[in-house]
Amino acid sequence: MAVATAAALLAALGGALWLATRPRVQQLPGGANPGLMHGKTVLITGANSGLGRATAAELLRLGARLLRLGARVIMGCRDRARAEEAAGQLRRELSQAGAPEPGPDAGRAGELVVKELDLASLRSVRAFCQEMLQEEPRLDVLINNAGIFQCPYMKTEDGFEMQFGVNHLGHFLLTNLLLGLLKSSAPSRIVVVSSKLYKYGDINFEDLNCEQSYNKSFCYSRSKLANILFTRELARRLEGTNVTVNVLHPGIVRTNLGRHIHIPLLVKPLFNLVSWAFFKSPIEGAQTTIYLASSPEVEGVSGKYFGDCKEEELLPKAMDDAIARKLWDISEVMVGILK
Ligand SMILES: NC(=O)c1ccc[n+]([C@@H]2O[C@H](COP(=O)([O-])OP(=O)(O)OC[C@H]3O[C@@H](n4cnc5c(N)ncnc54)[C@H](OP(=O)(O)O)[C@@H]3O)[C@@H](O)[C@H]2O)c1
Repeated sequence: MAVATAAALLAALGGALWLATRPRVQQLPGGANPGLMHGKTVLITGANSGLGRATAAELLRLGARLLRLGARVIMGCRDRARAEEAAGQLRRELSQAGAPEPGPDAGRAGELVVKELDLASLRSVRAFCQEMLQEEPRLDVLINNAGIFQCPYMKTEDGFEMQFGVNHLGHFLLTNLLLGLLKSSAPSRIVVVSSKLYKYGDINFEDLNCEQSYNKSFCYSRSKLANILFTRELARRLEGTNVTVNVLHPGIVRTNLGRHIHIPLLVKPLFNLVSWAFFKSPIEGAQTTIYLASSPEVEGVSGKYFGDCKEEELLPKAMDDAIARKLWDISEVMVGILK
């Protein structure tokens, strides 16, 4: 017991020391270029929390501070009340930082718009896209960020295993329905948020809904592998259109992603300390997303995988073009693009 207490104290002290002394990365080298966001329309899924919220804040902040005309940031969120609350906080934070407050209307400070989007419902994705196509004359950047992590076995409204349904299929349909708008707005970009955990997944075509067996970690990893295969296949299909698509892993970030993970009450304080000391903050974790959404360094770059604003190598399983094509074809049938 005494040894455990001493170890916990040492870990706490070490964590606190490291936390106090480590460099705070607010913007990685070659990071966001505000000039490129001038008057651009950006759609971010899951923008009310964690990485999506930090990405929205940073794109708005850059636009509001440095530009005459800020970006129009659309938050695609499943819960309108939570999204409006997050949008209100973002507007207040911006105005406290001395920037003109972005309203729901056009203006010099940029715009922050909330739209309802539940990626666990194909009906909701279709309704959202219909509204987008009716109301938005352009879309310069689509950021497929929303995600669900290691939830208990659940199905989407359409009967898909939840993590595959939200992380891959919902975004697959969303992207396909918005491709025309992205093409007519070219040069435009698609940014996909995956995870390094893709390494532990495989696309088991014979049981995509995990009806035979369900392992929540495997299914999360599988959905994140699907994000990468989707990106590479889409990049191939988009060649010559001036629409690029890249995928990233953000690192380990302190967000609400672990909401389905049970941490015993007694261990919680230690976990919180470790996460404060060693995990990235949301704004640190969002840097690669912001980089891919805005930097001129990646203009014309497509089908690549990034971490910490640098291209990284993928395992062969994520480079398998035949699997990527097969997954694309099956996904088209599953979401009803092809019958
Ligand atoms: N945090 C990390 O360490 C880490 C590491 C690797 C990859 N990632 C990836 O980063 C992305 C962002 O996650 P995060 O860490 O920022 O977690 P987060 O704080 O939990 O944010 C996830 C967002 O996704 C939204 N979402 C979940 N289900 C949805 C649905 N059915 N329809 C629409 N939106 C939905 C959530 O909305 P609600 O708030 O309404 O639930 C929330 O806005 C995810 O794709 C995740 O896989 C995160």
